[in-house]
Amino acid sequence: MNQKGKRVGIVGAGNVGATVAYSLAMQGSCHEIILRDNKVDVAKGKALDMSQAAAAIRSHTVVTVAEDMSELTDCDVVVVTAGSPRLPGMSRDDLLMTNAKITKEVAKGIAKYSPNAIIIMVSNPLDAMTYVAMKESGFDRSRVIGMAGILDSSRMASFIQEKLGYGGGQIRASVMGGHGDDMVPLPRYSTVAGVPLSDLLSPEEIDEVVERTRHGGAEIVSYLKTGSAYYAPAKSTAIMVDAILKDTKQIHPCAVYLDGEYGYRDVVSGVPVMLGANGAEKIIEVTLNEKEQAMFKKSCDSVYKLIKTLNENNFFGE
Ligand code: 2OP
Repeated sequence: MNQKGKRVGIVGAGNVGATVAYSLAMQGSCHEIILRDNKVDVAKGKALDMSQAAAAIRSHTVVTVAEDMSELTDCDVVVVTAGSPRLPGMSRDDLLMTNAKITKEVAKGIAKYSPNAIIIMVSNPLDAMTYVAMKESGFDRSRVIGMAGILDSSRMASFIQEKLGYGGGQIRASVMGGHGDDMVPLPRYSTVAGVPLSDLLSPEEIDEVVERTRHGGAEIVSYLKTGSAYYAPAKSTAIMVDAILKDTKQIHPCAVYLDGEYGYRDVVSGVPVMLGANGAEKIIEVTLNEKEQAMFKKSCDSVYKLIKTLNENNFFGE
């Protein structure tokens, strides 16, 4: 780790990237946050604004700008939010080729200028972009982690709270699989103050929560119209950065490259992961019943399909 204090790079200072930076600055997780965005002036304005917010709470964190990837040096963690966001009517998969090209360039830049960093991918389609970032950076799979599970589980928890009308802050919801319409919410592993969800909600109510969770991102896009969610995605990312910088060794659902776990290889999917200073230090294998396994397979198959499209376009050879 850096002698001068922890440095976090954020590539893409749009709504998600800037809100990650703001969350980190308010959490006091690191010494320096470096924003990198093609809109350099916008990034400079946001960096000044956030440094001043940090000063207001007497925090030591400063927010600066990298005018070029070559200035994003020696970061401990780099968060990648660069890419086009979803618009109404678009699926995350519609962004595949555009965002894969951006991710490729960014991953190569990170490998060159912050070779010891841990990469947290946020751009969509999330699982495929995590795969691209791993392949293009050449980093070990433990150092390229996608943010989705914390977001999807938080959405599920908030929908459970809304349905129940109580239990806020005591809900542990669990979502595995890819960050797409085939994600795998796991009511069987979801509890309210330790009470199984099935003791509190009817099967129909649970199904409604599951469906709403699967489309939680689209629900927000349909209201915002010009882009997608950013408060919950950003906070979820900040939680991952914090776990890595503080070496908490806590378990969070994250998207990682599977190499035999759950019976899958050469694909990225969301599974419980122990996060620490070395990134995804351990992948936890949860027991899934037949129905859950089938859902997990369907979700992995959708990610395989995206990787296949990239391969058919000779994406990795270029
Ligand atoms: C979300 O789920 C768009 O993936 C983003 O809000």
